[in-house]
Amino acid sequence: MGQKIAVIGTGYVGLTTGACLSHLGHDVVCADVVPEKVDALNRGEIPILEAGLDELVHTGVAEGRLSFVLGAENAVGDAEFVFLCLPTPQGADGAADLSFIKRAAGHIGPLLEPGTVVINKSTVPVGSAGEVAKKLRRDDVYVVSNPEFLREGTAVNDFLHPDRIVIGSDDGAAAQRVAGLYVDLPGEVLITDPASAETIKYASNAFLATKISFVNAMAAVCEEVGADVTDVVKGMGLDQRIGDRFLVPGPGWGGSCFPKDSHALVRIAENSGYQFGLLRQVIAVNEEQFGRVANKITRLAGGRLQGRTIAVWGLTFKARTDDLRDSPSLNIINRLLEVGATVRAYDPAVVDGSDPRLEGIEVVTDPYEAVTKADVLAVLTEWPEFTELDMAKVGDLIGHKAVVDGRNLLDGAVLKELGFAYDGIGRS
Ligand code: UGA
Repeated sequence: MGQKIAVIGTGYVGLTTGACLSHLGHDVVCADVVPEKVDALNRGEIPILEAGLDELVHTGVAEGRLSFVLGAENAVGDAEFVFLCLPTPQGADGAADLSFIKRAAGHIGPLLEPGTVVINKSTVPVGSAGEVAKKLRRDDVYVVSNPEFLREGTAVNDFLHPDRIVIGSDDGAAAQRVAGLYVDLPGEVLITDPASAETIKYASNAFLATKISFVNAMAAVCEEVGADVTDVVKGMGLDQRIGDRFLVPGPGWGGSCFPKDSHALVRIAENSGYQFGLLRQVIAVNEEQFGRVANKITRLAGGRLQGRTIAVWGLTFKARTDDLRDSPSLNIINRLLEVGATVRAYDPAVVDGSDPRLEGIEVVTDPYEAVTKADVLAVLTEWPEFTELDMAKVGDLIGHKAVVDGRNLLDGAVLKELGFAYDGIGRS
């Protein structure tokens, strides 16, 4: 039977969680503090690009199992479960800022029914379950950690087909009740204590970031020794202890999670007396990678960027999302702009340059317009449609036939045949 659930926060985690839980048959009320967002959601307008989400929201609303309200106080009244899906941005000292979550907990505490389970879904520092419990000021409700492992762009699929469901609670019965919400889903359920559940989330993201920094560092070695990183990864990946997933070299990792969470874990470790040198180095290798790609572009532009026009394909932090947060592409572009380049960019998910993060970039809506008379084309996001574009036409339009392929997306051999200078990642 469906349970009564409130979801606080309608970002990509909250909205996906709410829509998927309603899809599983639960009665879900989602709350947000932004009136326009709530109105838009009630009209069926989805503010983010997330595969499959529109359909789940429309069905949930149409069948009366999903609704959106303004303010958490209007959502939690008769809820048996309350999911906190609020932002935990990086504070000035690198640590995650818990103020949104604490404020919401303080606000809803007096309104909860006895026995309600409050669930931390957002990525929160170790010990946050206790912090939330303190703010709720209730000894008759439970706080459980249930971290999300959703990738943007495939969040709905990840929710409905999880590798694992992690539940951290000091109360076995509360943990079982949360597990019951997911009873129809595949994936192993791991029940543990709150600190371990919170740590699993950070450890997972830090390990994934480590894999990418490792392969980007290996790509740098490959370039020096004349090896091809694609074959190197293939060869490594055939060892089942290693595997080839999440070892795709690129312009560095970004997005709303890895940068924030890796810094937060460094800080969590430091606060407990451990210097996480390995993770600091993983972050440093990532910063270096942005610089390495910017240097490749400079080299193909003839050694200087002043007065040069660089065409960029791809602005989002990865393909299949419209999210620009901590995008490696923007980091690299800003390095180019700082030394006097003009940047003209195309991204299938970015319609204009009105977002303040795109300041200084000429955003166009056609990939061929972006390259016209440019000195170098840099591919910085792995949108599959870029592989379908007519590179001979690009060759006719571009000022100098030069491509920096920051995602190893294009066929270097074909480009060289067409007369382009081509530089990828980890390919000599
Ligand atoms: C990441 C994790 O993958 C999710 O499991 C986690 O739940 C989520 O963070 C979160 O903490 O909420 P996401 O930020 O959506 O998901 O993005 P990823 O697909 O992991 O990619 C992160 C960055 O790494 C992107 O910039 C991507 O281009 C880059 N990347 C990824 C590579 O450069 N190489 C790879 O092999 C994989």
